[in-house]
Amino acid sequence: MCGLPLIPDSNLIVGLEKADDAGVYRLSDDLAIIQTVDFFTPIVDDPRAFGQIAAANALSDVYAMGGTPLTAMNIVCFPVKTLDISVLREILRGGLEKMAEAGVALAGGHSVDDVELKYGLSVTGTVHPGKVITKGGARAGDRLILTKPLGTGIINTAVKGKMAGEQTADRAAACMAALNKVASQLMQEVGVSACTDITGFGLLGHACEMIQDSDTGMRIRLSSVPLLPQTVEFARMGMIPGGTYRNKEFRAAMIQASGGLPDYALDILFDPQTSGGLFIAVSSGRVDRLLSRLHRGGAVEAAVVGEVIADPQGKIVIEE
Ligand code: CO
Ligand code: CO
Ligand code: CO
Repeated sequence: MCGLPLIPDSNLIVGLEKADDAGVYRLSDDLAIIQTVDFFTPIVDDPRAFGQIAAANALSDVYAMGGTPLTAMNIVCFPVKTLDISVLREILRGGLEKMAEAGVALAGGHSVDDVELKYGLSVTGTVHPGKVITKGGARAGDRLILTKPLGTGIINTAVKGKMAGEQTADRAAACMAALNKVASQLMQEVGVSACTDITGFGLLGHACEMIQDSDTGMRIRLSSVPLLPQTVEFARMGMIPGGTYRNKEFRAAMIQASGGLPDYALDILFDPQTSGGLFIAVSSGRVDRLLSRLHRGGAVEAAVVGEVIADPQGKIVIEE
């Protein structure tokens, strides 16, 4: 991290050397703790919905590691002089609702007076040290499952531009507030090769992280990727958040877009997500079982969006 000297510790199973969704520290031969922290500025107007989304987003990194979240701490930056305290109450209420749904105990928190409102959680969970699911580990032949539709960045941009109707805005908010809890439990039961959750770098940014420093590549089919309603329509109109361009530029060398792709393809596939779904690499022998269990478990839009390939190595091939 920034070239700073890290403190070596053999019990730190997942640390900063190879950045993953969360840190994992071994306490004993059969128990490790998972730690993560996430907070951000409001992405929806309704304070309670913002609280739910921020909490679901913070919990997601524990789910992505194949762990069980146990406790959480509130992180609050609040403009005491300009906003009514009732707004904070609603944010915290929304966060608590998601903690209750996750079976997580609120253990404390900290708040500071800040000109810009921010909310999130630090979360602690547990996992068996031998059952940690990391970003690495995808093997050629694995299938790739995405458990939630894409498009939250594009739709939030359209909402800000007063272009999106209430129905579409509500669908996106519900999608962001949905926990990755059941999807995580099911992937642990079925057994998978690798997983991460889709957030700010977009589907392709996180996909690049999964194949980085590996001997594999990926093929992703645009037509198989689940999308929120009106995502294509708004992308065509140019409702693209600024983060998309940074995401595209950063990973340009790893992307091979095949001919015939629509112009908006990469704008959607690099769209920064808030509290996105799990992106899972699973063997071809287990993919059908996992997908049908995801659908029955409530992740009704989960889909196989591509596969891990041996060649070209280190590249992501995008097809129609
Ligand atoms: Co993550
Ligand atoms: Co995170
Ligand atoms: Co304090």
